[in-house]
Amino acid sequence: MLKRSSRRDLDVFAHIPRHSLPERHARRIKESYRARRFDQVFPAGSSAMPSLLIGRERQISQLSSLAREMLDDTFGARQSLIGVVLHGPRGTGKTALLNAFSEGIRGLGRVRIINMVGNDHLVSTDTLIRHLASFAPARSEKTRSFALGAKMVVAGGFETRTTRRESHQSLSSISSALHAATERKKGKRMPVLITIDEAHAASPAELGGLLNAIQNVTNQGEVAVGIVLAGTPDLLDLLRHRKCEATWFLDRAGTARRLAPMPNDLSHDDCLRAITEPLKCAGVTVTSMTALSGAVEKCKGSPYFLQVLGETALATAFENNHLADFSTGGEIHLIFDENVQARYKQTWASLDNQGLAGCARQLGALWQARTPDGEPIKITENLVDRAIRSGLEHAPTEAGMTTDEAISYFKHLGLLWSFGEGAQDVWSLGLPSFFDFAEAMFHRIGNVDHRAVLPELQSDMSSLYEEAGLAVKTAIDGQ
Ligand SMILES: Nc1ncnc2c1ncn2[C@@H]1O[C@H](COP(=O)(O)OP(=O)(O)OP(=O)(O)O)[C@@H](O)[C@H]1O
Ligand SMILES: [Mg+2]
Repeated sequence: MLKRSSRRDLDVFAHIPRHSLPERHARRIKESYRARRFDQVFPAGSSAMPSLLIGRERQISQLSSLAREMLDDTFGARQSLIGVVLHGPRGTGKTALLNAFSEGIRGLGRVRIINMVGNDHLVSTDTLIRHLASFAPARSEKTRSFALGAKMVVAGGFETRTTRRESHQSLSSISSALHAATERKKGKRMPVLITIDEAHAASPAELGGLLNAIQNVTNQGEVAVGIVLAGTPDLLDLLRHRKCEATWFLDRAGTARRLAPMPNDLSHDDCLRAITEPLKCAGVTVTSMTALSGAVEKCKGSPYFLQVLGETALATAFENNHLADFSTGGEIHLIFDENVQARYKQTWASLDNQGLAGCARQLGALWQARTPDGEPIKITENLVDRAIRSGLEHAPTEAGMTTDEAISYFKHLGLLWSFGEGAQDVWSLGLPSFFDFAEAMFHRIGNVDHRAVLPELQSDMSSLYEEAGLAVKTAIDGQ
């Protein structure tokens, strides 16, 4: 066991540059730039580790506490499942943070790490058990008997289990597979960290089965099992899903410690540093810091857009005497804008295809609405519900979804979320700038179907504010 003092000082993120770039990393950046591997410096479009992992102090502290708890030698006496849920819009760095944490824990060499992906390992009891089984020591007695159990599960077809008995059997198989995965060769146990990326895509029954199995194993008090889930905002709904049978996981005391929202809220200064430091290492000169500052503003606190900006700057500088010119109308500016627009267009297309363009417009209007004092209005669950219903009623293209399904779809795309503390909570848009784009589509670019429903959508919004007793000065109807 780590000593108490060293446990307190434990920094599982020490291997990740967060404030400045150590010499070794700086050299690697220079090499990547020279080899025109710009995405190895600014990995836009992949979940690779950014050169500098900025911000996220709150989430890092939540994950660090989890690590300390897992390594606490008094853990067995407390017998409670420990975990963190990273949830938020697309591209906010959930995977990057999850991987950084997982690597840091691996570096300690005393914890077994089981990495999973929701839509890969948690789609059936069979895949889940097989994956857990692959971590059990090969010749352990328990593994052999467990492997038999696994075969029975597969043969019994628990994927479609319906009876209570089958559910119990399945849970006990998952529990024994997990139990076996905590064993070391000589029969000793070691703490286990389970990470599940894209957890929102897991099957509810399997995710619930795993959480309940962890609880079972932990209750035996022999070993600590920590779990980190990462997913889009619909992950919280999945955890409350009836089939998941794990509402206890969120509802018990300690929820606040478990939930780690990941908004697009990187600070301007952090973003500036995340761009300038790697550029400096690559040997690129920024021609105007004021122009850079303006470009960073356009990233809207989004890690993904930040990496797109960095990658564009590197690629452009390579062809321009190693100079990065961020001024408006310059090449970086234009290419960055094109990339952002492409992302918005893709999102717009997936909404419009489902007949949800009207809903997007209504959500954007809620977000833009201001009180007579110029304050944003509080977006409650009721307002979201009403806005979505109005959007479905006046859909420019045929909508085949119910209100709940539409809300869930927006959450799935990471465009709508609350910080998960219940119906009284304030709701936000995952990427507000996308909704400006959606509004513009109705006014300027949208086809005749979109323009035809706009007056009804606008009038619905006014009635909605009136009925909700909200004094709203303007719902900026934009463009
Ligand atoms: N804290 C951060 N600082 C700088 N860049 C970051 C940070 N976190 C993530 N990134 C970068 O942002 C991009 C998106 O990150 P990532 O893929 O981890 O997001 P995600 O939330 O998992 O997205 P998705 O929901 O689509 O899976 C990647 O290029 C990553 O390198
Ligand atoms: Mg991800």
